[in-house]
Amino acid sequence: MEATLTHAATTLLTCAFRVLTLLRIAPPVPTPLPDRLAAIPEGSLDIDNGIYDDDSFDWWSDSCGLHHLNPEIYRRLRAADVGKVQGEKRRRRSGGGGGGGEKEDDEKEDDEEERYEVIGLDPSQRSIDVARSHAAAATATTAASGPGPLRIRYEVGSVYSLPLATSSIDAIICSDVLEHLYNLPLALSEMARVLKPGGVVTFDTINRTPLSYYLSIWVLQDVLRAMQADAHDHRMYVTPCEMRTGLVAAGLEPGPQRDLVGIRPSLHWPHVTLWRLLTGRAGFMSAVLTRFQLTSSLDISYLYCARKPLRQDEGARGPGR
Ligand SMILES: C[S@@+](CC[C@H](N)C(=O)[O-])C[C@H]1O[C@@H](n2cnc3c(N)ncnc32)[C@H](O)[C@@H]1O
Repeated sequence: MEATLTHAATTLLTCAFRVLTLLRIAPPVPTPLPDRLAAIPEGSLDIDNGIYDDDSFDWWSDSCGLHHLNPEIYRRLRAADVGKVQGEKRRRRSGGGGGGGEKEDDEKEDDEEERYEVIGLDPSQRSIDVARSHAAAATATTAASGPGPLRIRYEVGSVYSLPLATSSIDAIICSDVLEHLYNLPLALSEMARVLKPGGVVTFDTINRTPLSYYLSIWVLQDVLRAMQADAHDHRMYVTPCEMRTGLVAAGLEPGPQRDLVGIRPSLHWPHVTLWRLLTGRAGFMSAVLTRFQLTSSLDISYLYCARKPLRQDEGARGPGR
C-alpha cells in the first residue's frame, strides 16, 4: 500500500514538474556527465564545498535540512547496517553464532559496544570545531543520566586520503557526502582500503532523477533560496546503479537489495507551516519539515551499504548476498 501511494505521488509530482518545464516555468533537467564514476576536475561544476567553512552556513541549527535528516539516517544506519555487522563480528568473537542462544549473544553485544572508538572526519575545520563543541556539550548535559562521555576523535581530513591505517576500521558511516565528491572511485577505494575484511560502509546520498533535481535544486536552491545556490549540482548526484558499479570496482561487495531503501522528507500540514512561519517560531526548514522517513521510493535520497569481503577473491561477486 505504502509503495503504491508513494509511486503514485512521485509520478504525479514528476509529471507536474514536466508540465512546468514544457511551459518554460521550470528549467530542463541538466544533462548528466558522460561518466559519473570518472574523476571530474575539482571546481569544474556548480557546487561549492567551501560553504561548510562559512559562518553563514549553520548546519547544526534547525533551519538547516541536515538537522532534520541526520537523526533518521543515523537511526537507520546504526540499527540496520552497522549494528548488524557489528553483531556478526561480535558473534564471531564470542565463539560462533547460535550456540549460546540469541539472548546471550545480544548481551555480549551490549557489553562489547563500548569498545568501539568513533572517529569523525571532514575537510571543513569549522564543521569539525562545531561538532567537537557539541559533543562536549552533550557529554556535559548527559554526564549524570546518560550513557557516559561521547568518545569521538574528530579529525580534519579528506576521504581521498584517509589518515587511517589499512584494514583498521570496523564500519564507516558516510552521510550525505558522496554527492559532493569530484573523485568517487578514489573515495570508494580509500574506504575499501581502511576497512577491515568483513567491515561495512553504510551511506546515504541523493539519487540523480528528475524529481531530485526539481525538489532539491530548483525548488530549494533556486526558487525558495532555502539552501545556498551552490550547495549541490545535480550532475554530481549518484544513482544506485552507479554506486553498485563503483563499489564493486573498489573491491567492495554491495549489500542485498533489501538494504537499498529510500528516504524522503515529511512535511507539516500547510496551515501548520504557515503558522510556524508567521509566528517566527521556526526557521524555514523546520517550519516546513517534520522529519525524514524511510520509503520504498528511491527517487530522492537513498541509503545503502557494502561490505569488504573477508577474502580478496570474494569481491567481484557483486550485489545480492
Ligand atoms: C551535506 S554535508 C554533510 C555533513 C555531515 N556528513 C552530515 O551528514 O551532517 C557534506 C559534507 O561533505 C564534506 N566533504 C566535501 N568534500 C569532502 C571530501 N573530499 N572528503 C570528505 N568529506 C567531504 C563537506 O565538508 C561537508 O561537510
